[in-house]
Amino acid sequence: MNRKTDLHKLLLTLSLAMDFSKHGLMHHHQRVAFISLRIAEELGLLPERKQNLFRAAVVHDAGISSWSKKSYLEEFHVFEPWPHCISGAKLFRSLDGIAPISDIILHHHHRWDGDNDTSLAGESIPLESRIIHLADRIDVLVGAGRNILARRSGIMEKIKSHSRKLFDPMLVEVMEQVAVKECFWLDLLSEFLPRQLEEEVSADLIRLDMENLLKLGDVFAGIIDGKSSFTHKHSRLVSAVAGMLAGKMGFSRKKCDMMILAGLLHDLGKLTIPESILEKPGTLAVHEHNLIKQHAYYTYRILGLINGFDEIRDWAGLHHEKLDGSGYPFHLKSEQIPLGAKIMAVADIFSALAEDRPYRQGLPLDKINQIMWQQVESNYIDGAVVDVLAKNMETAWDLHRQLKIRETVVAL
Ligand SMILES: [Fe+2]
Ligand SMILES: [Fe+2]
Ligand SMILES: [Fe+2]
Repeated sequence: MNRKTDLHKLLLTLSLAMDFSKHGLMHHHQRVAFISLRIAEELGLLPERKQNLFRAAVVHDAGISSWSKKSYLEEFHVFEPWPHCISGAKLFRSLDGIAPISDIILHHHHRWDGDNDTSLAGESIPLESRIIHLADRIDVLVGAGRNILARRSGIMEKIKSHSRKLFDPMLVEVMEQVAVKECFWLDLLSEFLPRQLEEEVSADLIRLDMENLLKLGDVFAGIIDGKSSFTHKHSRLVSAVAGMLAGKMGFSRKKCDMMILAGLLHDLGKLTIPESILEKPGTLAVHEHNLIKQHAYYTYRILGLINGFDEIRDWAGLHHEKLDGSGYPFHLKSEQIPLGAKIMAVADIFSALAEDRPYRQGLPLDKINQIMWQQVESNYIDGAVVDVLAKNMETAWDLHRQLKIRETVVAL
């Protein structure tokens, strides 16, 4: 894997997982990024500001991953947007090079007239936030309906009626210029949009080293785990245990870091599943279990879109395959499953058993050990990996305990 990665493409791809909602894949973040770029272009915004605008737009709602809460944002008038602005801003504050997007995200629902949760109004609200606010509300009005060219004047009328109240009047005028062109509306709803966005931003590269890549992975782990109170540290625990096992099994430092990253992202596809199913106590109906099964598929496919991520995609996306071929979604057999994915499967099962679930408390070590060996006997998971885990059970348990302490401290 190339240790340097293109941040723009990475954000663009990872945000895809956040764009699933009860209506299916809506491309909301990509569409808001596209509208924002068009406004910025018409405005003649400097390239560096345009870069930050794009980065912020493509993840602007990262602070909310629950589908039920997300549906509030689908109304034109948003009820209490401030909490998701704060949590979204917090996620990106510590990332070198892109920390400025934190402030843009924080104010992306701020009204021009100053009726806000801060004292900011008018031009004191960051320009990039004002652009995203306008772009975001336009996309909500665009929705999923057909015949966009027939609807565009109605959309613009509504936007204009909120100029000076919700929106910066100067930006509304700029938007009117953008809206004249049919291509703008057609591009917005076209299946070529992701490709087009990728091409537009590819000239503005900044590159991430492994340290920052891991920080970004941690941000996404937070978004994924934020979906359910029962799995709020699952990705981080799987990542830590998988990284530890990889090290014990002779993986190089670089490969261990890749394993840690794959662990952070292994459940990325869970963003495509409503939390009502993820949190359901008791047995799942067949159709609900089928939905659960799609998460590994989407982890695999989304990570597969990122250049240089092939091994990370395999280690993350194949964590529900079983050695006897009865796993999902590819039904691979032992010889087709890479060692990294076998390690991930063991780390995932260990973590799931150690953590509390809606239907039971976390299990004690001896019980976990017993279940893991039963799974080896059933030819589901790899005995050599479980052997390494068994010899390092205390270390794995410590990782679990440390995460629990960390989360208690954060919650205080
Ligand atoms: Fe938002
Ligand atoms: Fe949004
Ligand atoms: Fe999973």
